[in-house]
Amino acid sequence: MTMTHNNPQLAKLTLLGVGLALGLATLAGCRGEREDAPPRQFFPDLDDAPKWKPQDHSEFFADGRTMRLPPTGTVPFGTQGFRSEEPWAKKFDKQADDLLKADPAFYQGKAADGTYLAKAPIAFTKEDLLRGQERFNIYCAACHNYNGDGQGTVGVMWSYPVPNFHDDIYVDPKNEKSRDGYLFHIARDGVWSPDGAQNKMPAYAHAIGYDDAWRIIAYIRVLQSTRRGTLEDVPADKRDEMKKLMDQKAAASAAAAPAATPAPAPATGGAK
Ligand code: HEC
Repeated sequence: MTMTHNNPQLAKLTLLGVGLALGLATLAGCRGEREDAPPRQFFPDLDDAPKWKPQDHSEFFADGRTMRLPPTGTVPFGTQGFRSEEPWAKKFDKQADDLLKADPAFYQGKAADGTYLAKAPIAFTKEDLLRGQERFNIYCAACHNYNGDGQGTVGVMWSYPVPNFHDDIYVDPKNEKSRDGYLFHIARDGVWSPDGAQNKMPAYAHAIGYDDAWRIIAYIRVLQSTRRGTLEDVPADKRDEMKKLMDQKAAASAAAAPAATPAPAPATGGAK
C-alpha cells in the first residue's frame, strides 16, 4: 500500500511538482550554451534518415538526378475529368483534355494520317483574333516584327535569318509551310537544325497554351491578308467604305510622292 492511495490530494500535488521540475529542467537545457557534443535526441524518429533534396545530385540513379520524371503519358489521378454537363465542370474537362491530348488535330495540328492540317480545327471569333494579336505581339513580334515581315528588333540581330510570313511559301497551299497545323507546331516547338544541334527559333509551348497557339496562327493569317486581300474579301456591306478609304490613301500618297525622300534602309544583321 502506498501513500498515494491513502492521500490522492498529495499524490496530485507530487505529480504537479515533478512535472514543473521536469519542465524547468528542459527549459534550462534550451538556453543557448555552446556544446560540441551532438545533441541528445530522445525521440529521433526520422531526424537522421538519409534523404535527397530536390535538384540534388544522386549517385543512386543512373541519370544522376535525384528527382524522378513521371512515366511518359502519366495523368495525375483525379484529373481524368468528370465529363459532366454542369458548367462548373467544364474547366476540369478542359484540364483533362489537355493532359490526355487524345485529339491529334487540336494538340498537334495533325490529321489522323500524321500530315499537318491545312486549316485550324477550331473556329475563331473576333475576340480570339484580338487575343492572338496580343500574344503574337508579346511572344513573336520581337523577331517576326509586328507586321510579320521578320524585321523585328531582335530578329534583325538574331543568329539566324527570320523569315517573312508574307512570302509565298507560307501562303501557297502546295507548300507544307502554308498549313495552319505546321505553323501551330512551329509556334509551340520552335525550329531546330535537322541534326538537332542548333535551336534556330525558341519553342514557346511553355508560354502559350494550345488555344493561344491556334489564335496566334489565326492572327498570322490576318497579317498575311493585310497584304494579299482584295476588295472582294471585304464583306459586301463594307466595300464602299473600304473603297473610299483606299482611294483616299492612294490620293494622299500620290500627293506626297514628289516631296517624299526615300526611307532609310532598315538596319540588318550583326549589330551589337
Ligand atoms: C528569338 C527570335 C524568334 C521569336 C521570338 C520567334 N521566332 Fe519564329 N522564327 C525565328 C527564326 C530565326 C526562324 C527561322 C528558322 C529557320 O532557320 O528555319 C523562325 C521561323 C518561324 C516560322 C517558319 C518556320 C519554317 O519552317 O519556315 C514560323 C511559322 C514561326 N517562326 C512562328 C513563330 C511564332 C508563332 C512565334 C511566337 C510564338 C515565333 N515564331 C517567335 C525566330 C523567332
